[in-house]
Amino acid sequence: MRIGAILVSIAMSLVVLTLFFVWRTDATQQPIADDQVKHWHRIEDFPDQQIAQFETVFWEPRDTESLRQLIRDTSLVQNKTVLEIGTGTGLISLCCLRAGASRVVATDINPAAIANVRFNVEQLQLDERLELRTVPLDDPGAFSVVGESEQFDLIISNPPWENQRPQSIDQYALYDEDFALMHSLLAGLKEHLAPGGKALLAYGCVDAIKTLCRLAPEYKLQVRQLDDRHLDDLSEVFLPGMLIQVKPLVSTESDPN
Ligand SMILES: C[S@@+](CC[C@H](N)C(=O)[O-])C[C@H]1O[C@@H](n2cnc3c(N)ncnc32)[C@H](O)[C@@H]1O
Repeated sequence: MRIGAILVSIAMSLVVLTLFFVWRTDATQQPIADDQVKHWHRIEDFPDQQIAQFETVFWEPRDTESLRQLIRDTSLVQNKTVLEIGTGTGLISLCCLRAGASRVVATDINPAAIANVRFNVEQLQLDERLELRTVPLDDPGAFSVVGESEQFDLIISNPPWENQRPQSIDQYALYDEDFALMHSLLAGLKEHLAPGGKALLAYGCVDAIKTLCRLAPEYKLQVRQLDDRHLDDLSEVFLPGMLIQVKPLVSTESDPN
């Protein structure tokens, strides 16, 4: 009887120990969620890991499908310096780091986004080539936290796309009143692109893309739609987003792309 009780308690201890080790293994595979994490997301760029999304931070990966595919499947960012304007969870910057960018500077106006990227780069162990910069609300220009002489091989952004005034910090992901961010981006582009560099912008809004195409020549920039779809066939706001290449205007003879 007594031996039976001892055997039962040994068996129970073994079960408890096994459960503890299973739980520990799981915990080391995914860091214990910070209390700011709103969702964990799985995405094809990081098949074995998850990306955290903090409260108030934007998540819609269909905006940037074609951009992430280019980063993943070509040498677009390999050994290149990259600036991402409006990084959100950091998804695109993380893709650039994973694809071999030599250095990435990522900005955002939402401090929660900056904390979110810091969290994601730490858990994915991709941090050493990334610099994060918070854009002040009272100086929201695209290059407000970029040094005058700082240049990048590639400038990327999935900017807010609707011409409306943001009423809260999360709405800065959606609204760009009077397309002020777009204007400032185009105005500073030539100065901040390294020789031979280009910008790739993801927009899912007809009004924003038409505005971009109209404004670009005023800033001596050329725009190319890297997408087979026609704007007139799309609804005003659409998914997946469309990738637009913007480069300094040069004669088409010397630069066919
Ligand atoms: C459409 S979201 C894209 C986020 C992320 N790049 C992605 O694709 O998931 C636009 C981001 O731009 C940020 N943003 C808006 N205005 C900004 C500004 N003036 N400077 C820097 N970031 C800005 C927003 O906070 C938001 O994170």
